[in-house]
Amino acid sequence: MAEEIRNTSPQTFKVTIDNITIDVPVGTTILNAARIVGGEVAPPAMCYYTHLKDSGGKCRTCLVEVSKGSEKDPRPMPKLVASCRTTVMDGMEVKNITSEKVLDARKGVVEFLLINHPLDCPVCDQAGECDLQNLSYEHGAVQTRYEFARRTFEREDIGPYIQLHMTRCILCYRCTYVADQITNSRVHGILDRGDHSEISTYISKAIENDFSGNMIDVCPVGALTDRTYRFKNRVWFLKPMDAHRDCEKCCGEVRLWTRGDEVFRVTARQDEWGEVKSLPDGKPAWICNTCRFDKKNAGDWIIEGPTKVDRHSVISQGHYQGKVGMAKAPEPLEKVLQGRTPHLLLDIHDESEVNKVEVRLSEIEGPAVGETFNGNASATGHNITDVKIGVGPNKKGTDSTNPNTV
Ligand code: SF4
Ligand code: FES
Repeated sequence: MAEEIRNTSPQTFKVTIDNITIDVPVGTTILNAARIVGGEVAPPAMCYYTHLKDSGGKCRTCLVEVSKGSEKDPRPMPKLVASCRTTVMDGMEVKNITSEKVLDARKGVVEFLLINHPLDCPVCDQAGECDLQNLSYEHGAVQTRYEFARRTFEREDIGPYIQLHMTRCILCYRCTYVADQITNSRVHGILDRGDHSEISTYISKAIENDFSGNMIDVCPVGALTDRTYRFKNRVWFLKPMDAHRDCEKCCGEVRLWTRGDEVFRVTARQDEWGEVKSLPDGKPAWICNTCRFDKKNAGDWIIEGPTKVDRHSVISQGHYQGKVGMAKAPEPLEKVLQGRTPHLLLDIHDESEVNKVEVRLSEIEGPAVGETFNGNASATGHNITDVKIGVGPNKKGTDSTNPNTV
């Protein structure tokens, strides 16, 4: 009998999203069905992460309207639903970008997320690859209606490799799932409730596990950044290259962020949804801390070639042609010069006291600071945002990440 039931059960369901109908395996979420369609039909997702079990359902950016529940029960769902947590039913009809309600709600969600998030993109290392930055660009309001003081926190040291900026955290829980599921010793988590919630290490233990660096990659905002890369460059000035090495701890397949022959940082490879890519055997290509933090010489790697940037991203501008139709920008200089040879008008190093050519930022272990740029290569790691627990909270209450803030 059980065999009979199995045989008669459908293997796929038909779902229509923004007027596009596809068949998906039973059990697929609306979000993943929309990702199969691709492009703008896929809702944004700030907390769901394919390779992290139980993720999703926290941020509400993926809300969609279900205008028809299923073939059997065509009633619309009374409220917008989180597409990352709702599975499709046969005959379901869903509206994402075709729904005024969804766009309006998404605008509200962005406004809520930005209530406490500082607008410090100009000094944040995540700028240029920040999901919240992209989301606010597409759905944000021109200004906030919030009139109260934003949340501030005592700065906390969570270890030598990762910098926590709690004010930027949107409490998506991804990093805690990484710690729980990928490392073997979770020592941090979300403490307290409501607007007191914050990420913290239990008993102030440092996050030292070999795979802890992956928390940086999954963080959708700049709350967890790479201390070995901080303030050294902007992501859009770097050229991402795919590279690999023989590593005994991880797959060794990474993305190198280079400028000239310098490797500024190493990250896992990401797919078009900003999630870690899958290896041919289907396993996620998480990388270990040795590959991420200790292999910063191009000679440590076998370079495969320029990364093909699959996402709509500022990083692909002017670098590479991506899947999303990012054509290389026309070269205006050639047009202006009309065949003449350009004259080198000035060498910036002759004119400026900062950014000395002999200072190789990629070789400095800690974050760059003002003195580093002034030529002191040994000045590292002591800017205001790197202070230890309890020392040096921002007295002005803004928790600016500007290294010059006192
Ligand atoms: S620190 Fe980043 S990954 Fe962790 S909960 Fe906050 S926003 Fe999410
Ligand atoms: S991605 Fe669905 S609730 Fe966050």
